[in-house]
Amino acid sequence: MNAEPTEPTQLVVGLYEQASVGCGGAPGLWTHPADDRVMVNSLDRWRNVATTAEEAGLHALFLADVLGLYDVYEGSLDAAVGEAVEAPANDPFAYVPALAEVARRLAFVVTASTTYEHPFSLARRFATLDHLTDGRIGWNVVTSYLESAARNFGLDGQLAHGDRYARADEFLEVVYRLLEGSWADDAVVADKSVPVWARPGSVRPVHFEGEHFRVHGPALTSPSPQRTPVLFQAGWSPRGREFGARHGEVLLLPKSDPAEIRAGLDDTRARAAALGRVPGDVRALALARVVVGRTAAEAQAKLEDLQSTYRLRAQLVSYSGDTGIDIARYADDEPLTTTTNGLTSYVVRGDGDRPLTAGDVKRRFASVARGGDLFFVGTPDEVAEAMSRHAGAAGLDGYLLNPLLSPGTLDDFAELVVPALAARGAFDPTPKEGTLRARLRADGRDRLPADFPGARHRFGLEASAG
Ligand SMILES: Cc1cc2nc3c(=O)[nH]c(=O)nc-3n(C[C@H](O)[C@H](O)[C@H](O)COP(=O)(O)O)c2cc1C
Repeated sequence: MNAEPTEPTQLVVGLYEQASVGCGGAPGLWTHPADDRVMVNSLDRWRNVATTAEEAGLHALFLADVLGLYDVYEGSLDAAVGEAVEAPANDPFAYVPALAEVARRLAFVVTASTTYEHPFSLARRFATLDHLTDGRIGWNVVTSYLESAARNFGLDGQLAHGDRYARADEFLEVVYRLLEGSWADDAVVADKSVPVWARPGSVRPVHFEGEHFRVHGPALTSPSPQRTPVLFQAGWSPRGREFGARHGEVLLLPKSDPAEIRAGLDDTRARAAALGRVPGDVRALALARVVVGRTAAEAQAKLEDLQSTYRLRAQLVSYSGDTGIDIARYADDEPLTTTTNGLTSYVVRGDGDRPLTAGDVKRRFASVARGGDLFFVGTPDEVAEAMSRHAGAAGLDGYLLNPLLSPGTLDDFAELVVPALAARGAFDPTPKEGTLRARLRADGRDRLPADFPGARHRFGLEASAG
């Protein structure tokens, strides 16, 4: 792997959002007077977000999702709904067709869980969206981490971490067979004169029998522009990286330190190469928070304004939900456990062997800038310079912009940072065209490359394994 820092020529930038009131860069900021996330149930708010993102040249609108409430803090859901931490959680799929109609070039990345969905129905839903948007669809593949979600789907508790990934591998296998393998590329002729819509023999069952799924097939949908949606993935654990190396086209990083990111990416890209993939096909974006002002003083004033609205309690609800560790149960001088079946990579750890106390973690979260998170503050030129430098040092392709305020963070980014990045040749500000995969790949292809493990299931190729 290339260990030398390189300047990326053009950054990929997506907008991170969630069909929720309390999501994004800092819990509690939905209470800011300029924030409109309380309008989560109104399409007007979302049309504005989508069109601004499109006109600023962003590559995609990313929609995060959870399937349960953040009920870990104080062992209750009251704080989560009171503080609107990842609550409510509307279905992100429902927003896409409406927004794709007003933002006709913007792409959409929708989060869906391999632990609680079924591959047959999910493949159908993604293929339908891929058709309706002319291929502007990605899938953030998640295995989920909330005990509350497990209880919503009939389980007493979550599957173990490794079992979630094993199910996810099989889930993807089913999706590839359905979307890549059950319809020939030229199956649909739609000839009214014969009449024949799809050629006999060009649509076939998949006969999948695995440990978790039995799916006869074929897919109910005809071949869509991208077939498989662009696969986003954020595993950071060794098992998660193995999964990302096999299936990930765009990795999402939960880290900020460029050396740490580069080491993690080098590891995943080496695993991808060992699976026969081109390592450069594994692209990577980090979640970034941005506060920008026309002057350094204005940026600082914005930061202070955010700090005055920031709510530490909401952050602690968020941390407890993410990690499954109820920080409210600990005295400030008590060491916090780091053992969890939740998001282990989000657990704040001390330097060396000394475990952090609950008080240490609270101090870490006292600032809206939350020590350790990727946070760019400054003038447009300072932010553009810092983003380019960080991406080059970390081996990143770009960022998911994580709103502190919505739509304010996006508005500021579009107005101030996009022109500064464009002036440096680090971002193309024109609205993107074509399928999502084509806009992310140097070769402009709509479909999975032939060396991708999922591509071997294509109709007409011998399915050699699995
Ligand atoms: C930018 C980013 C976005 C994520 N979005 C979601 C999400 O919407 N829903 C979800 O359940 N998990 C989400 N995750 C969590 C990941 O899917 C994954 O569980 C996490 O990074 C831990 O992976 P690991 O256990 O392999 O370390 C996200 C992670 C990152 C870094």
